[in-house]
Amino acid sequence: MSMRRSLLIGCGSYLPERILSNAELAKKIDTSHEWIVQRTGIHQRHVAADGELTSDLALAASRRALEAARIGVDEIDLIIVATTTPDDTFPATATKVQAGLGAVRGAAFDVQAVCAGFVYALAVADNFIKAGQSNTALVIGAETFTRILDWQDRSTCVLFGDGAGAVVLRGYEGSGDPSDHGILSTHLHSDGRERDILYVDGGPSSTGTTGHVKMVGKEVYRHAVSKLGSVIEEALAANGLTAEDVDWLVPHQANRRIIDSMANRMKLPTEKVICCIDRHANTSAASVPLALTEAVQDGRITQGDLVLFEAIGGGLAWGAGLVRMGYPDLA
Ligand code: ACO
Repeated sequence: MSMRRSLLIGCGSYLPERILSNAELAKKIDTSHEWIVQRTGIHQRHVAADGELTSDLALAASRRALEAARIGVDEIDLIIVATTTPDDTFPATATKVQAGLGAVRGAAFDVQAVCAGFVYALAVADNFIKAGQSNTALVIGAETFTRILDWQDRSTCVLFGDGAGAVVLRGYEGSGDPSDHGILSTHLHSDGRERDILYVDGGPSSTGTTGHVKMVGKEVYRHAVSKLGSVIEEALAANGLTAEDVDWLVPHQANRRIIDSMANRMKLPTEKVICCIDRHANTSAASVPLALTEAVQDGRITQGDLVLFEAIGGGLAWGAGLVRMGYPDLA
């Protein structure tokens, strides 16, 4: 039976040049490299230059993803940017990326699910493609998250960084085993009752200011471990798979201890877990496509590999997705 699905055919990423080390942070606030590494696994983060905007990061990552996918700009008919730090309140950052690329077909819009944003955007694009409304989608996670940090609050400002990652999805009419290639399934959840454990104390409608990140770290940690654990199980069960079938876990990079806890729960060896939190810190919606791109570029993730994505963030919003990489013809 023929079934329309989304293939993930290329990815790319971009990190701002400037690197801010834990040691530099420790000169400005009451913290230490040792505390940050021991509690989070973070050694450094990238910070966007003055005047460098989320759309600039998104555009650079998109160009690299299109090049990797060997796709021309004229083929794109959907652009989704997952971001919590858009250039402006409106228009959508995705429309700036569209203009920057010189793309004119189809729709461009933003998705807001904080750190789960990329998984949400991937699910939206996958459903557009499966429904036949789009054929070639650019899905981007991009953040200048350091712009919404309170640099006096040591409990949050040490955790985040800036960056962008992008993937290209392509519609494909395949036949045979549905676990063959492309996005096998996505699973999204949110629970607005937990808003107060992770939020920004500003917005165009509430205060008229951008606001800063507020977080009850321990509570978020507790929810992250249980909710990510169950959405991983949900994704595997929906496809009749077990953790042993997974070639790579590409988790949201929020905390090394949360990543290790997911790997332990799945009984996955560390080598199968893509971790770049030490160098990137938490880049919110950009973290999953940044990690994915790194592992594709260094040759760990290859054609035909089964990859599991997961992420959780403010909302609370969380989700997971299972993807078999590449083109059926090349596997
Ligand atoms: N340097 C030194 N000490 C610090 C720092 C710091 N940067 N930050 C906090 N502390 C102190 C606290 O003041 C506290 O001191 P006290 O015991 O004297 O009161 C002590 O360290 C312990 O603080 P906790 O907050 O209890 O530390 P915890 O072990 O919970 O680690 C952390 C904090 C790293 C934030 C952890 O809770 C965490 O990772 N939570 C989850 C974050 C997450 O997953 N976010 C995902 C989504 S993000 C998004 O969507 C935007």
